[in-house]
Amino acid sequence: MAEPTIEDYFVENRTFPPSAAFVEQAVVKDRSLYEEAAADLEAFWARQARELISWFDPFDTVLEWELPFAKWFLGGTLNVSYNCLDRHVEAGRGDKVAFHWEGEPGDTRTITYADLLREVAMFANALKGLGVERGDRVAIYMPMIPELPVAMLACTRIGAAHSVIFGGFSPDSIVDRVNDAECKVIITADGGWRRGTVAPLKPNVDAALPGTHSVQHVVVVRRGENEVEMVEGRDHWYHDLMASASADCPPEHMGSEDLLYLLYTSGTTAKPKGIMHTTGGYLTQVAFTHKVVFDIHPETDVYWCAADVGWVTGHSYIVYGPLTNGVTSVMYEGTPDTPGRDRLWAIAEKYGVTQLYTAPTAIRMFMKWGDEEPAKHDLSSLRVLGTVGEPINPEAWMWYHEHIGGSRCPIVDTWWQTETGGHMVTPLPGVIPTKPGSATIPVPGVFGEVVDDDGKPIEKGGGYWTLSRPWPSMLRGIWGDPERYRETYWSRFPGRYFAGDGAKIDDDGYIWFLGRVDDVMNVSGHRISTTEVESALVDHPAVAEAAVVGATDPLTGQAIVGYVILRQAYESSPELVEEIRQHVATKIGPTARPKAVIIVPDLPKTRSGKIMRRLLRDVLEHRDLGDTTTLADASVVAEIQTRATESPTED
Ligand code: WTA
Repeated sequence: MAEPTIEDYFVENRTFPPSAAFVEQAVVKDRSLYEEAAADLEAFWARQARELISWFDPFDTVLEWELPFAKWFLGGTLNVSYNCLDRHVEAGRGDKVAFHWEGEPGDTRTITYADLLREVAMFANALKGLGVERGDRVAIYMPMIPELPVAMLACTRIGAAHSVIFGGFSPDSIVDRVNDAECKVIITADGGWRRGTVAPLKPNVDAALPGTHSVQHVVVVRRGENEVEMVEGRDHWYHDLMASASADCPPEHMGSEDLLYLLYTSGTTAKPKGIMHTTGGYLTQVAFTHKVVFDIHPETDVYWCAADVGWVTGHSYIVYGPLTNGVTSVMYEGTPDTPGRDRLWAIAEKYGVTQLYTAPTAIRMFMKWGDEEPAKHDLSSLRVLGTVGEPINPEAWMWYHEHIGGSRCPIVDTWWQTETGGHMVTPLPGVIPTKPGSATIPVPGVFGEVVDDDGKPIEKGGGYWTLSRPWPSMLRGIWGDPERYRETYWSRFPGRYFAGDGAKIDDDGYIWFLGRVDDVMNVSGHRISTTEVESALVDHPAVAEAAVVGATDPLTGQAIVGYVILRQAYESSPELVEEIRQHVATKIGPTARPKAVIIVPDLPKTRSGKIMRRLLRDVLEHRDLGDTTTLADASVVAEIQTRATESPTED
């Protein structure tokens, strides 16, 4: 028999079917959507596009597929801001709350659909006044304030594409992104609140501007009230522009395949890629998945995605999906530990949140902070919980299920990427029983397979996760670089999209994501996924969070080294370290026992919360650490370097 592509160790047998009460009220109650999509993919998506989206002109061609370039809903014209705003107001729902916004210091704003439409139309006119035209690109570098979705929607209203740059990025990142897309205008704020202080933004834009060549105007929202310099003629206060803007701005009729936005993904080394998303297909899949995956009842739900709009999760599931579906959302500016470690639970209780969507890294942090924080609040309004961004360890899943979901809420573990635009693999909560740590099966209308090294589909075990058919919200390319698009996603397995994740399939056909294949370790010829060893580590009661890497080893090729953060009640000791190593061996087998376990106070993460395993390998192998600018907190690495040299590696 051939060597397995990635081995399969971790066995997780718990299953959680939805309760009868949940199924009873669910948006989707049975498998008919899966069957409909399998029978005719194009007809399925065409129906969603017609039912969920308002078109000015109907489309005549559902899909034009010239691998790897897809075009969806050709001939159709629409406007995204019209779909998100006008049509709800026209239907008499203008007074419905679009956003319950909460600032970090505790200030709040309640914004109805009518308010949002008015503000968007006015700002769209303000942008026109600055010379922004259909087809232009506009950069947005803002905190999590209502003007951020306003800016995005104003761009869509006039047919300009936005490029949102996450507010935590440095001036250099702004320069690269603004230049690549040749943005005409940058929309920013003086600053925004983070962990009790104002993080400046406009000063970063000022530092970036000398390196750019296309920017004609900068618009500045007043939020942090920090001191900023304004250059006459170039820089404009948002409130000044709005004071004289008309609220009459008819939406542009955009083609289905017109560019909606660029969002840059930073590879760890190379130049960031401007991922291109277009209009009709993107909005269709995002609206569809938002509705069926979160089980959205727009009349009664208060939905909350606690990500940042600077990431794709915020684009699709704070702005475009929820507004297209006309639901009421919560939007929060700040950090989860300000003023206390129960801030999210206080907000959820205050607004009666029904769906909460967050990341495994946040959940593990909440676990570390202790059960008592959520216990201070009444979370009984919650109905569905979601996760995104990384594989979730079964123990973190169970904690989320019990301590946040009251053992009552289905958890939708959503696998997708900036490139996929919307959810791809995740359960429909009223239909698919969940298993802790599995994203379950592809959503209706999405088709993927796990393949081996030769690209042959496998039905059980570990391999590479690929998408075998086009989907409406797929990226349309990399801005300015069609060759890099082909090379990055379509060259490893001919005819298939592959963006680097390992996965295994179990006996029930459920998919378990195993992390990035670049991180897979090779120990004495066994290909072991970091995710499985990390899940076994987090399974130990003392462990809050873990990151595992393969370090070069003369004997075994690579040796497994686990970096571990302890839960608050535990103290590091040689006995505990030994017990944790042994726990992995018991849980998934001796081959996967870490050679060393190093207790650390924190782990290096990107600003979106993904563990940077490359850095951990570099530390162990005494390599120069290279580019660390994408780190959320650079001081973490120095601390880890110290601990790594102090900890003996054992056998
Ligand atoms: C990882 C975020 C396992 C994966 C929407 C993917 C996940 C990358 C999951 C994309 C999940 C995201 N289970 N892994 N539920 N969700 N990932 O572009 O490695 O920031 O390729 O998009 O995150 O990250 P991105």
